Amino acid sequence: MTLNQNRTPLFDAVKQHVTRNAIPLQIPGHKHGYGLEEYKEFVGENVLRMDLNETRGIDMLWDPVAVIAEAEKLLADSLGAKHAYFLINGTTSGMQAMIMSTCTPGDQIILPRNAHKSVFNGLILSGANPIYVQPEIDDYLGIVTGITASGVQAAIEKNPGAKAVMAINPSYYGVATELKAIVETAHGSCIPVLVDEAHGTHMCFHPYFPISAMVAGADMSAASLHKTGGSLTQSSALLVGSSKINPNYIKQVLNLTYTSSPSYILLCSLDVARKQLATRGRQMLDGILDMVQRTRAEINKLDGLFAPDKKYFERSGKFSFDETKLLVNVQKLGLTGYEVEEILAKDFNILIELADMYNILAVISLGEREEFLQAFVDALKDISAHGKRKTVKKIETIQFSPEVVMPPRDAFFSKKRSMPLEQCAGEIAGEMVMVYPPGIPLVSIGEIITAEIIDYVRMLKAERCTIQGTIDPIVDNIMVLDK
Ligand SMILES: Cc1ncc(COP(=O)(O)O)c(C=O)c1O
Repeated sequence: MTLNQNRTPLFDAVKQHVTRNAIPLQIPGHKHGYGLEEYKEFVGENVLRMDLNETRGIDMLWDPVAVIAEAEKLLADSLGAKHAYFLINGTTSGMQAMIMSTCTPGDQIILPRNAHKSVFNGLILSGANPIYVQPEIDDYLGIVTGITASGVQAAIEKNPGAKAVMAINPSYYGVATELKAIVETAHGSCIPVLVDEAHGTHMCFHPYFPISAMVAGADMSAASLHKTGGSLTQSSALLVGSSKINPNYIKQVLNLTYTSSPSYILLCSLDVARKQLATRGRQMLDGILDMVQRTRAEINKLDGLFAPDKKYFERSGKFSFDETKLLVNVQKLGLTGYEVEEILAKDFNILIELADMYNILAVISLGEREEFLQAFVDALKDISAHGKRKTVKKIETIQFSPEVVMPPRDAFFSKKRSMPLEQCAGEIAGEMVMVYPPGIPLVSIGEIITAEIIDYVRMLKAERCTIQGTIDPIVDNIMVLDK
């Protein structure tokens, strides 16, 4: 870091604007909240006064030249990037922008099969064709770990013309892959690397965490500062680490989807969160790691519960783990993760981030309080004392090799019809069928639905697994392309 990270140019400019108390003969129409009294009463006057449209002295997101440009430079500097762009439509818009900045219609992109839905949407927007790399699975926990450098190498050998490689760092569950080796592999074939760092914004601010995308030498990454960096929901960043991608072109791509009325409340939160991470992040994360490690040790003393740590994942020699993700395997309680989630919410007023068949996940972050974690441990003690003690039946995870017969974009714009699941063999999927756990699509848009996939979906339904992605919530029907 070389710039003065104590500065908050955008936040200062907005505060100055608010203090100026100018007569607002402009939008937004609520005019400092006079037109939305009930809302103002609850959230406070300053929030409404900060809710500005692009106006004098506060720059513009779509072509920043003043305080936003400065704030973006500070963000890039703090995260070790060459360029940073504020996003106010989440990392979703960053994922889409990364794909669209590197791929044109018909280009190939190498992706983990367990990519987030924003990536599949990015394929539709860009017209790129996916080349999937199957991620590895931790059989005991029943979760996806990630793709490896050898998987990427094999995909590149079969598809040497691919325009980008995408990796996830870390996954929703906190598992990080051998990112440096993936970057070296892709760069060995002159292919840029794009990283989904939605869950890893904090990782470059403390050496205990897995390596971050920019440090690993990735070309671009998208980071949800709102998830683990302290900023407000929807505020994220797109980072550029190399000179392979023209920053002006990235700006053009972002402008395809940027709103022309960005929220300064969200933008300012990015400016302040960046200052906090850059100036106090290391110290704050020291405290958080201490808290989460003590909590994990307490949980591991409880019957029927297992909370893996970094060492557990590093045994593989390929993966690592962000320990602020407090993953707890509950299968030996005789309860599913969904049941534990419900007990925590209803009996203990504790809301966790994620539950699947075998696990629950609590996210421990910058605003954590000792008392929150103590309440969590106390609740788990109680649940552990009353669990049924019969291991939840494990379902074998089968990864199907997708047969992509139509680019996702063409499939998306094709005519579709709903068809009973039993009759779908041989049809081309018009929607994604995704199962949790482990969070890998069984079939995605533009792929052939096979008899094996139908059998597997039937079995998953019988086991009451969560199936997502289909219009029909109970997956009796699937959307297929009209022939
Ligand atoms: C792995 C992953 N990537 C991308 C995203 C999209 O991030 P955002 O919610 O900031 O748009 C998410 C959101 O949960 C995610 O889990």
